[in-house]
Amino acid sequence: MSVTEIPVVDLEDLSSANLQRQERASQAIIDGFGHYGLVYIRNHGIDQDLLTAFYDAFLGFTSRPLEEKEAMSRPDIWYQRGWTPPDTERAVVAGGQPDFKECYFMAPEPVDDVAAQEYPEIYSENIWPEGADTFKRTYESIGHQLHEVGLYLLRGAARALELEPFRFESAVYGGPHVTRALRYLPLNDTQVDTGILWGEEHTDFNLLTLLPGGRFLDPSGEYTQRPDADCGLYLRTRPTDDHPHGQMVQGMAPAGCMVAQVGQQLEILTGGKFLATPHVIKAPKTPAFSRVSMAHFIHLHAHQIVGPLPQFRTDEATQAYSPPVLAGTYGMKTLVDIGLAPPNALDGLGYRHYDRLGDMRAVEDGKG
Ligand SMILES: [Fe+2]
Repeated sequence: MSVTEIPVVDLEDLSSANLQRQERASQAIIDGFGHYGLVYIRNHGIDQDLLTAFYDAFLGFTSRPLEEKEAMSRPDIWYQRGWTPPDTERAVVAGGQPDFKECYFMAPEPVDDVAAQEYPEIYSENIWPEGADTFKRTYESIGHQLHEVGLYLLRGAARALELEPFRFESAVYGGPHVTRALRYLPLNDTQVDTGILWGEEHTDFNLLTLLPGGRFLDPSGEYTQRPDADCGLYLRTRPTDDHPHGQMVQGMAPAGCMVAQVGQQLEILTGGKFLATPHVIKAPKTPAFSRVSMAHFIHLHAHQIVGPLPQFRTDEATQAYSPPVLAGTYGMKTLVDIGLAPPNALDGLGYRHYDRLGDMRAVEDGKG
C-alpha cells in the first residue's frame, strides 16, 4: 500500500443495506487502522458552520487577560477540565520538550456517578468562564457530534473485526470522554526552524480520537490557508521490513473529510491488530502563524480492563500488553507520565488504610 493511500471510510457505507458498501467500509477500517492507525471519514455530518463559530468563541477566550485564563486552570484536577497553560503537557518520549500550545478541556457526555467518586479528577464537572455562553453552547454541541461519529465508527470497527457490533460501544458508555480545544502558538523570528514542535510525537492513550479539522491564522488573526506545505499533522506508519522505523506520512484529510485515530486502548484491546498512531504536529516555517484545532477523545469506561480481548489473545499479544490494568488506573498513570498529574497521584492506588492498623496498634501500646 502506498503511503498516499490512507483509506477513507464513508459513514453512509457503514449504514448501507448494500453488503458491498458495508464490506468496503470494513476493509477501509481494517487497512487504515491496521497500517496507519488512522482513517479519513467522509459524510460525517459535523456542522462546519458551528465548528467555525466554536473556533471564533475559543479564540475569544484565548485572547482574554492571563489572569482570567489562569482562573480556569485546574492543576488539582490534573487539567482535565478548563484551561491548560502552554509549557505544561509533555509527550512521554519527547525528552522533556513541552508542546507549544494552550488548551481547554470539557466533557460533552454525562459522566458515570460512581466512577466520578472513584476518579474525581478524570470525571470532574465541566467548568466555564464568565460571559462565554457561545463558547459553552458551541463546544458542547460539537463535542457531542464528534462523540456520535466516534460511536458509529466503533460499531463499524467491531463489525470489521467480526466482534459483536456493540463490543466497543458498550465498553465506552459512561467513560471519561473529553473534548479538547487547542491553540498552537505563533513562533517568533528566532524560534522558527529551531526544532520547536507544536505537538511532540506521541500516541494517544484513549480508545479513539476524532479530529474535525483545524484552522490556520495569519499574523493579523484572520483564518488563512496553510502557510507552508510541510507544517501540520504527520503520522508514523507500522514498521515493515523495508521501513523498520515506519514511514512519516502527512495526514491531510481530503476536502470534506475528518480524521479518526486509533489510541493505545484500542491497540491493546485488539492485541496490536490496530495500531495506536504515533503522530507529531510540525510548526510552520513562517513566523507569527498560529492554528486552532479540536480533538475528541473517546475512552474506555474506568472499570474496563485494558488487555487484549479473547479473540486477539495470542501468546505474543498477551506478553506484549501485560499486565492488564483497569482503564481508570491506566489513565491516571498516563496523566502522570505526560506531566498533567503529579507523581504522587499513583499513591492513591492499592490499599491506603495501613494507617488505621498503625493507629490501632498505637492505642494498644498506649494502654499497655
Ligand atoms: Fe494526539
